[in-house]
Amino acid sequence: MTNHSTSDSVVLQALATERLLPVVVINDAAAAAPLRDAVVAGGLSTLEITLRTPSAIAAIRRLSEAGDISVGAGTVLTREQAKIAIGEGARFVVSPGLSPDVVAHCHDVGVPVFPGVATPTEILSALSLGCTVVKFFPADVNGGLPAIKALANPFPDVRFVPTGGVSADNLAAYLAHPAVLAVGGSWVVAQPLIASHDWATITSRVAEAVRIVEGVAAGDGAHA
Ligand code: 3PG
Repeated sequence: MTNHSTSDSVVLQALATERLLPVVVINDAAAAAPLRDAVVAGGLSTLEITLRTPSAIAAIRRLSEAGDISVGAGTVLTREQAKIAIGEGARFVVSPGLSPDVVAHCHDVGVPVFPGVATPTEILSALSLGCTVVKFFPADVNGGLPAIKALANPFPDVRFVPTGGVSADNLAAYLAHPAVLAVGGSWVVAQPLIASHDWATITSRVAEAVRIVEGVAAGDGAHA
């Protein structure tokens, strides 16, 4: 397993324990604090803020300053974006694809990076860059769980974070497979809920997902 720093193992440990990475699109940095409170109240301590909106970097800064949540940057497409996000406090970096530049910068500064992959060739490239934890994206349209089962055979050391089309309905099935480290998804922090400041629904969706994760850990989940 890649282990570039202490923060690397702390972030991986949290993901491996909580097994759920909420993927956030935020249009108003002022929503960062109540969003954090809602997610923490539901039982999670990690959030990915996607760099898809002008407010994303400010939201990362605010969450990082608050300190009680591990905030990462998502939708990181370039080395420059990785540099800015990490400078503002992002503790991990997620990308929809595999950019050697993004991976190299994250490794240089000791920040965990989860590049996106969808094919065996992309997994080989990720491994050659020292990445053993990859985002499988977009998971649903690339074959979902059957694809992960097939990919896990030739790549036994790779751990997947399937993202794209994950929901409360298929969460348990994904998590029951040993090659799945965690899942990513926006359904628990859906943009309309953030826009309408519906923090209670966010907390209840997070809590429901946490209960499902706990069920899988207890052996009640769907069988892989
Ligand atoms: C991502 O950016 O990782 C995906 O857009 C999240 O996919 P979802 O909205 O289907 O959860």
